[in-house]
Amino acid sequence: MIGVGILGCGGIARAHADAYARFPERCRVVAAADVFPDRAESFARQIGPDVAASGRPEEVLARADVDLVSVCAPPFAHAPLTVAALRAGKHVLVEKPMATGVDECDAMIEAAASSGRMLSVVHQNRFSPEMTRLKALCASGALGPLDLVCVQCLWWRGPEYYRLWWRGTWDKEGGGALLNHAIHFVDLMVWLAGMPTEARAMVATRAHAVEVEDLAAAVLRFPGGAVGQFTGTVDAHLNEDRLELCGRRAAVAVPWKVRACVDTGNGFGRPDAAVAAEVEAAAAAVPVPALRGHAAEIDRLLAALEAGGPPPVSGEDGRRAVEVVAAVYAAAASGAPCPLPLARDHPFYAADGLRAGMRRLLRGAAAQG
Ligand SMILES: NC(=O)c1ccc[n+]([C@@H]2O[C@H](COP(=O)([O-])OP(=O)(O)OC[C@H]3O[C@@H](n4cnc5c(N)ncnc54)[C@H](O)[C@@H]3O)[C@@H](O)[C@H]2O)c1
Repeated sequence: MIGVGILGCGGIARAHADAYARFPERCRVVAAADVFPDRAESFARQIGPDVAASGRPEEVLARADVDLVSVCAPPFAHAPLTVAALRAGKHVLVEKPMATGVDECDAMIEAAASSGRMLSVVHQNRFSPEMTRLKALCASGALGPLDLVCVQCLWWRGPEYYRLWWRGTWDKEGGGALLNHAIHFVDLMVWLAGMPTEARAMVATRAHAVEVEDLAAAVLRFPGGAVGQFTGTVDAHLNEDRLELCGRRAAVAVPWKVRACVDTGNGFGRPDAAVAAEVEAAAAAVPVPALRGHAAEIDRLLAALEAGGPPPVSGEDGRRAVEVVAAVYAAAASGAPCPLPLARDHPFYAADGLRAGMRRLLRGAAAQG
């Protein structure tokens, strides 16, 4: 039986508690902490009669019956809480974004390596049926070599959303629409298409009275030459998202659509029903998780802890998404392409440098109107 502690008892903590509750023979939440003790109290009462509540995360980390800690605090607290938990001998599942800078991700990965504990990051959308199928199609080469990756994360959030004390700030949220919202798609894009080698970008704060960006648009280059086009915003009344992978042989979009073209003889295309049907059949044959979201990822994490295998989403995976975000910010700030991997001495490698650079960029843009 794996004992679980939850650090941070706000909105997403409930998704963790509900997911752990799906596996009562394998794990049990035994303690929860929040810097606001009343929040920890009411959360603990809601999720179970015997859950201990504390206003001090270190009390949860000191408990011998806690093996695994879910870090559900805001982004600025992810690295310190994760490092403290790993050093206390606990395994960690940390919410996205893994951290607010690549340097913080490095410290978390280092703490996992030196403690011998497991570090995993929440990127639960990898486990949807569509993404599971798309990943298998990419791995099998069914789409042919990738030419274009398009992501449109066109979400909408209103002013009320940013009234929460930590949101919308460089110090606490660590970033805006790209780091906190579209990061789900940054992770999916990198997982499906590989780590980009170069980013060019523009970011802006348009529709919200916050210091972080509410809109980011990037163009990326992938190994093998594929080009990516990535937009992430919380300003879009469309409030929908779309990911498209265009391979040389066929294209797939999520929400799910498969298309292939064949030359009509005069250079134009008509649907190639045979190739599309073949790709659809290959996708349909892929086993998909019975569970969704956090439960699907936590099911795999528990299995990895029980059997000693790798985590479903590793610290390195979480770091890759943060590194792409940092490179997109760096490209936007400099107006020049930013090569990936991000150089260790690049000012945006560290969370402090990233924040300083982005404040300068967006304050400058605001001053110009
Ligand atoms: N995976 C997803 O789909 C998803 C969805 C929503 C939020 N999130 C992520 O979850 C995290 C939390 O978001 P939320 O919406 O639950 O925020 P929230 O403000 O509702 O909850 C966070 C809680 O953490 C507490 N906290 C702050 N600092 C702490 C510390 N040092 N130690 C312990 N507790 C502390 C706060 O008091 C608050 O109660 C963020 O990183 C966010 O990006 C992920």
